[in-house]
Amino acid sequence: MLTVDEIRKDFPILSRKINGKQYAYLDNTTTTHKPLSVIKTMTDFLKKENSSVNRGVYYLSQKATARCEETREKVQRFINAKREEEVVFTKGTTEAINLVATSFGSTLKKGDEVIITEMEHHANIVPWQQVCLSQGAIFKVIPFSDSGMLDQEAFDRLLSHKTKIVAITHCSNVLGTINSIKKMVEKAHKYGAKVLIDGAQAIQHLPIDVQDLDCDFYCFSGHKLYGPTGIGILYGKYELLSMMPPYQTGGDMIDIVTFEKTTFKETPYKFEAGTSAIVEIIGLGATIDYLENIGYETITLLEVPLLEYAMSELKQIEGISIYGSAAKRAGIISFNIDGVHAHDAGTIFDDEGVALRVGHHCAQPIMTHFGIPATIRASIGFYNTKEEIDKFIIGVKKIKEFFK
Ligand SMILES: Cc1ncc(COP(=O)(O)O)c(C=O)c1O
Repeated sequence: MLTVDEIRKDFPILSRKINGKQYAYLDNTTTTHKPLSVIKTMTDFLKKENSSVNRGVYYLSQKATARCEETREKVQRFINAKREEEVVFTKGTTEAINLVATSFGSTLKKGDEVIITEMEHHANIVPWQQVCLSQGAIFKVIPFSDSGMLDQEAFDRLLSHKTKIVAITHCSNVLGTINSIKKMVEKAHKYGAKVLIDGAQAIQHLPIDVQDLDCDFYCFSGHKLYGPTGIGILYGKYELLSMMPPYQTGGDMIDIVTFEKTTFKETPYKFEAGTSAIVEIIGLGATIDYLENIGYETITLLEVPLLEYAMSELKQIEGISIYGSAAKRAGIISFNIDGVHAHDAGTIFDDEGVALRVGHHCAQPIMTHFGIPATIRASIGFYNTKEEIDKFIIGVKKIKEFFK
């Protein structure tokens, strides 16, 4: 198994000093750093092979096209999709969800129902709210308990034959909870409802098998998976993507255009209007190679002890409120220090060389649930160390002392 010291050599940014202090990066939920192999793949492409895809008959364009399609195959294998055509390139999770909400959502009728959960990121709330408004559909929400668990009985009560789609996060970006997706998909399918999973946070921690989950859609972003920004994935079952109308229209996604009528390519191309994010797609391919080499078993073995250590240290400090205590969780810790505003704490952490996120984390309904404006959030990646957790805990103690 690779050690954390070996892994850290792949991420030179982790050894940076900021304001003369060694930098501890604990904001992996917002975005992750990229290994050298991904950076090199992207710069090599720009230096030696840069070209557009699909339209060119010349060597470099054919090569760029082949490399993008290679990434599609890698993603198919990585998430165990049945077919390559089930993998659509998007800008990120947000665009993938908007694509489904707009395209699949256009089939919703007045009185149909859409169910989401109280612990969603705004990216998995607002697109559904908007489509419900435009289609006259009804928007329903599964609540969660103070421990950060979805209320499964409430879900049972909300489900009916009117439910057309259920959109759930696999892992909460605030509470860390890993939801029982497979069970929820099974329940929704009994009513003929489709299920979209927001995998933005889960995929950096867990191996994903879309056939085993049997979800209808799964979305994630490259930049939260140690890969580039500007590229994300929408997985969709072939039968669904085939019947769904295009999301955006324009170049590359058409079959024949006349002024009377336009016909479209098949999935996935009909959903990929405009010039693709070629460098980022190729970078995502290198990211998958890198992660497959490390393996999710190693990722778990590196992350879980850090999470357990951080939680146990934090719990020993008086006057700390931690939000979310689900048994199945990822390395995401949201908390507040009594009497200290999260933003003030964030500034002191920054002075101490600890990078973490403060705010509502684009999940305002979670803040409303707990009656707070914001939280401090520390999030762990496989390249973090026990020393960095110690630095974070020292930071918490200093802040407490400062505001005494
Ligand atoms: C659970 C969840 N869903 C969706 C998103 C949106 O991801 P992106 O901004 O990469 O589209 C995020 C980003 O933090 C997230 O945490």
